[in-house]
Amino acid sequence: MSGLDSISMRNLDEQALTTLARRLAAAVTRGGVMHLRGELGAGKTTFARALLGALGVGARIKSPTYSLIESYALPNLSVHHLDLYRIADPGELEWLGLDELAVEPSLIVVEWPEHAGRALPAPDLIVHLAHAGGARDVVLEPAGARGTLWLQSAGILDPVQAGKASR
Ligand SMILES: Nc1ncnc2c1ncn2[C@@H]1O[C@H](COP(=O)(O)OP(=O)(O)OP(=O)(O)O)[C@@H](O)[C@H]1O
Ligand SMILES: [Mg+2]
Repeated sequence: MSGLDSISMRNLDEQALTTLARRLAAAVTRGGVMHLRGELGAGKTTFARALLGALGVGARIKSPTYSLIESYALPNLSVHHLDLYRIADPGELEWLGLDELAVEPSLIVVEWPEHAGRALPAPDLIVHLAHAGGARDVVLEPAGARGTLWLQSAGILDPVQAGKASR
């Protein structure tokens, strides 16, 4: 699942998880694509809410479970929060115009990306969330240079370590 430069964190309570999301928010202000993976109730919306809140989304951050997508216009960034749980077939996504969403600068945060197949823009970072007793285990998996940069500038990944991992 995770590449060499993935970061694993164990047993995060809800507060630790939201702190992590807020920390990452500071690094993603120029946009990109983040996939949130994990089974039902793993904490994807919790993570997304903390991230969007820290980015400056002041409105109540609704879970896009029924709407599929909730978009927010920040002064220098468009933010799109998707929840594809109810998508049974990637073809159902065509009307969403996902390619247009990816026009920068925009941040796209996707719950249940596995329901979209290849209809979705490729992720810069995959956040894996898993139940761990009453808490959650987290793996941050960069899927490209930008994702690695996000982890570095959030102070989560040591640049020296990342350099070694990419060789
Ligand atoms: N780190 C954590 N430790 C303990 N509980 C948590 C943690 N993160 C979130 N929760 C709780 O888990 C529940 C489910 O969280 P959330 O709705 O974020 O999951 P989800 O992955 O979005 O679920 P779904 O697949 O239904 O969209 C909520 O009650 C939330 O408060
Ligand atoms: Mg959710």
